[in-house]
Amino acid sequence: MADKFKVGVLTSGGDAPGMNAAIRAVVRTGLTNNMEVVGIQNGFEGLLNGEFRSLGLRDVGGILQRGGTVLLTSRSKRFMEPSGQRNAIRKMNEAGIDALVIIGGEGSMNGAYALSQQGVKVIGIPGSIDNDIWGTNIAIGTDTAMNTIMEAVDKLRDTASSHQRAFLIETMGRNSGYLAVMTAIVCGAEVTLIPEVPTTAEEVALAVEQAYKRGKTHAIIINAEGSGIRTTDLAAKIDEMDVGFKTRMTILGHIQRGGSPTAYDRLLASRMGVKAVEALVEGTHGVMTGLKGKGVDFIPLLDVISNKRKVNMEYYHMAKVLAR
Ligand code: F6P
Repeated sequence: MADKFKVGVLTSGGDAPGMNAAIRAVVRTGLTNNMEVVGIQNGFEGLLNGEFRSLGLRDVGGILQRGGTVLLTSRSKRFMEPSGQRNAIRKMNEAGIDALVIIGGEGSMNGAYALSQQGVKVIGIPGSIDNDIWGTNIAIGTDTAMNTIMEAVDKLRDTASSHQRAFLIETMGRNSGYLAVMTAIVCGAEVTLIPEVPTTAEEVALAVEQAYKRGKTHAIIINAEGSGIRTTDLAAKIDEMDVGFKTRMTILGHIQRGGSPTAYDRLLASRMGVKAVEALVEGTHGVMTGLKGKGVDFIPLLDVISNKRKVNMEYYHMAKVLAR
């Protein structure tokens, strides 16, 4: 009897809520299609170290609702080198792995493309809270992170209003302002700083002063971590310029990456996991699953890594108008 088609699945880079739902979908769809599914622990590091274990239907039970990734993850420097990639391919071949499903962010899609260039059958699944991956409307984990930020900002606004303070809140997102802009809209932030729009601390202080003069009981300032201005410096400038509100600040940090995935993320991850295996069944590879309109499509990995996803500036302006 011929050996079964063996597909390896791994998660790489920053974990994102919903990655487990994607793993579960890959395993169960793969097994349903008579494949063998191998879980690769610890991202590309585990691929290099040969950390493989066969996954059965019950191995992915009870993980759908869990944040993080049961396969563990890493940011592997070794794998980024051509010699690392050659070693990874050797390990795959030794284990008889025919194809890989790689769940991760921008860096992981670069790794996926590098492997596909060397003849490996690869399917990427976008998973990142930053939503900075070109080729998909939204990545797995972004919706949950936005909800986490929204909950935190709603709580901070309660106390900000009670004390009539300006609250500076720092969000993640690396070089993308997506999380900051979208949460600014849903949280009604008065000022938003993003990497895409250079802003000075003075401009922020003046905007906060105007909000005070318009009779606002608080000011919420969302500062994307990549904006170029440190949140502490912003607070110092607002205090120094004596704009009416006193300041407090909260850096949300890694809390934004954790937690149970939202219904939206579970559904997106499940759809993308199923679609990734469907690609392999039909002989498609070298692509990433991407949400386009209402459907999940295959986007060539070359296009994914050659394009930069931009924040839609309409949303930035919307946040400003709605904060009046
Ligand atoms: O890419 C996800 C992300 O959480 C970014 O928003 C952030 O800049 C980075 O990862 C933090 O990385 P680490 O967990 O390695 O500190």
